[in-house]
Amino acid sequence: MRITMIGSGYVGLVSGACFSDFGHDVICVDKDESKIAALEAGRMPIFEPGLDKLVAANVAAGRLSFTTDLKSAVAGADAVFIAVGTPSRRGDGHADLSYVFAATREIAEAVTGPTVVVTKSTVPVGTGDKVEEILAELAPDMDIAVVSNPEFLREGAAIGDFKRPDRIVIGTEDARAMQVMRDVYRPLYLNESPILFTGRRTAELIKYAANAFLATKITFINEIADLCEAVGANVQDVSRGIGLDNRIGSKFLHAGPGYGGSCFPKDTLALLKTAEDYETPVRIVEAVVQVNDNRKRAMGRKVIRALGGDGTTGAKGKTVAVLGLTFKPNTDDMRDAPSLAIVQSLLDAGVTVRGYDPEGMEPAKAMMPDVTYCNNAYEAATGADAVVIVTEWDVFRALDLKRLAGVMAAPVMVDLRNVYPPAEVERAGFAYSSIGR
Ligand code: UGA
Repeated sequence: MRITMIGSGYVGLVSGACFSDFGHDVICVDKDESKIAALEAGRMPIFEPGLDKLVAANVAAGRLSFTTDLKSAVAGADAVFIAVGTPSRRGDGHADLSYVFAATREIAEAVTGPTVVVTKSTVPVGTGDKVEEILAELAPDMDIAVVSNPEFLREGAAIGDFKRPDRIVIGTEDARAMQVMRDVYRPLYLNESPILFTGRRTAELIKYAANAFLATKITFINEIADLCEAVGANVQDVSRGIGLDNRIGSKFLHAGPGYGGSCFPKDTLALLKTAEDYETPVRIVEAVVQVNDNRKRAMGRKVIRALGGDGTTGAKGKTVAVLGLTFKPNTDDMRDAPSLAIVQSLLDAGVTVRGYDPEGMEPAKAMMPDVTYCNNAYEAATGADAVVIVTEWDVFRALDLKRLAGVMAAPVMVDLRNVYPPAEVERAGFAYSSIGR
């Protein structure tokens, strides 16, 4: 099969590389010339474990290539995937579809024969209908079916998620498109990954419902964690105690500083906008968005209290080492990372912030210029009045606690990811606080 992937960002690049690894011929397109040049030279624009090797192997096998020339990439393709960004629109939180529609118009001009246009970008309900209208208007003589095929991969585990998905959702009622999509996903089909065929609008909504549900699960356990702290219970045991119930499930019940990233914050907001437009409020998701927003700054206040302040004042002149800046481990993505709000509230309180992250320091420097960036956890902690674990990178899971305490001005640790057993940290001389324990 010949597959064209428009947009070589996270989803486009991972999907394109994985499709080529299935044996398809894939061309990844992007407008950004420097990105395409870098990819051609074997340099990845994002940090994703295993992606560089996967790309190199498939480029070498002649199945994967990169171009800025959309027109030639689209001509003759069996399937054209749209995997461009759908950021939150400034001002109102709706998903910004301008890149999706611009790509659609370019596809209409480039298409030469029957094809299937597949939206992989996360797009609000009804976007497929609009894509279809644009194609019908600009390429009226072409046989083009429009399919929704949302992506459920997680950053940091994207290749595994793509190759061993819990399910594949395909929104189309067109028989030819169904067959093309079956062929596209044939290797997974043979692996017995469930393929769910639905209406196109349903597929679009499944994506938002899945992310909103997961964001709700996290926010639920975060509030239960606060309650645990108030009543003297342990949230990790609560998570285990409820998660063993198959109806609840144990995943996504890790209490922490609030969810971040490029998906949950933007997709929950976009779902609220859709619900508002259709006058069908989703109050639970409204509460989730608000609770999660408040939580990030509340984490800043928690750190200030650990420094002896009252939550907003009383920490002036102190120094804090922030370990982990990205929104989660194994990515260099800083989008909506809890560290951004936490660091800002510390700076607002007059605290000096030193930071270290294994992969995220370059993007972090641009977003948080007032932080002193260090080369490792111990350097960051040197002279600090507290260390805060914000992101649970593996390198922070087995710190030499005695050594860490030894370089600090005062041995105080705030562990926002519950990485350590409290007794172990306290034995090393730390005043230790964590989440919901
Ligand atoms: C999320 C979904 O998990 C993917 O299925 C989806 O495809 C993707 O969004 C998307 O829409 O593209 P991702 O944003 O990469 O993936 O990261 P997650 O692993 O879901 O984590 C999101 C946030 O929730 C992180 O800040 C993480 O620290 C937090 N989290 C996650 C918790 O605080 N507790 C948990 O138990 C799980």
